[in-house]
Amino acid sequence: MDIKALKNRAISDIAKAKDLPELNLVFKKYLDKQGELTLILRSLEELPKLRRIQVGQEANQLKAYLRDIFDKKGAGLKEKAMKVAEKKEWIDITAPGKKILAGHLHPLTLAKRKVEEIFQTMGFSVIEGPEIENEWYNFDALNIPKDHPARDMWDTFWLKTGRKKLLLRTHTSPVQIRYREKNQPPIRMLVTGRLFRHEATDSSHEINFYQVEGLMVDKDISAANFKAIIQEFLNRFFEKPISIRLRPSFFPFTEPSFEIDMTCLICQGKGCSVCSKTGWLEMIGAGMVHPNVLKYAGLNPKFWQGFAFGVGLDRLTMMKYKINDIRLLYSGDLRFLNQF
Ligand code: DAH
Repeated sequence: MDIKALKNRAISDIAKAKDLPELNLVFKKYLDKQGELTLILRSLEELPKLRRIQVGQEANQLKAYLRDIFDKKGAGLKEKAMKVAEKKEWIDITAPGKKILAGHLHPLTLAKRKVEEIFQTMGFSVIEGPEIENEWYNFDALNIPKDHPARDMWDTFWLKTGRKKLLLRTHTSPVQIRYREKNQPPIRMLVTGRLFRHEATDSSHEINFYQVEGLMVDKDISAANFKAIIQEFLNRFFEKPISIRLRPSFFPFTEPSFEIDMTCLICQGKGCSVCSKTGWLEMIGAGMVHPNVLKYAGLNPKFWQGFAFGVGLDRLTMMKYKINDIRLLYSGDLRFLNQF
């Protein structure tokens, strides 16, 4: 049992350890449960008494001594390791941050939500209808005759189906019928949805766009109610008083029908290219629901009456945000979209 030799070996091993894991191994070799020095201390009782005292003393002294230099060496290595880690994990706190790209709402969605919110506060329910329609809902139930040009294949996208003639809806008005079939008056409903038309595209025409369709049915509804509601809506949507005018017009599903113009917000009514120099913009188609249309939806026109209207959501959006080309709304061009 050469304690001195053991001491020399241990000191040299500790000195050679380059990092904490290596030092750990050296600790295991000498001082752990199965370490050389531990085993010596454990076997002391097998020795004769005098020798036991002598070896015991030496071994315990060595144990204390080794523990001490282990601790010192360990502290040194730890500091060294921290310095290396600090260097490796250095963060430049003065560097500009990386901007996280967050999505945002499309201008049409912003406008849609605003329109829906305004009508909801006036008691209208916001509902949806199918984008694929049949002839009955899109045309017949709305009093649109068989020979109407809108039913031509050049105005409407017809689907290639078997017996039933299906089409991509050309307006949101069919939802009026669907809603009336399932809901009894009094009715206040609003639809914002996509529609499709066989059109050549230009700055104000697209093959698909959005409409806001409104319907109010009750026992005592007049055009004056309509005018008040639409005036309130426009004022709130554009966040300022808007001048409007009603002109007589024609739609098969309303009688009488009218068109609502509003002052052009691009030129403040002075006249510009967007309003064809008139200062007015045609915004809304509307009228008192035609008695036939009430009948087709199962309501007796003697008791019930109401108004309906349809507005282009794209037009509202373009006026609100001063956008001069409808195609920008569908282009997916980030240079445009990032402005909202
Ligand atoms: N559906 C018509 C269109 O697409 C818009 C419209 C006009 C809707 C008058 C209505 C209405 O509800 O009463 O041009």
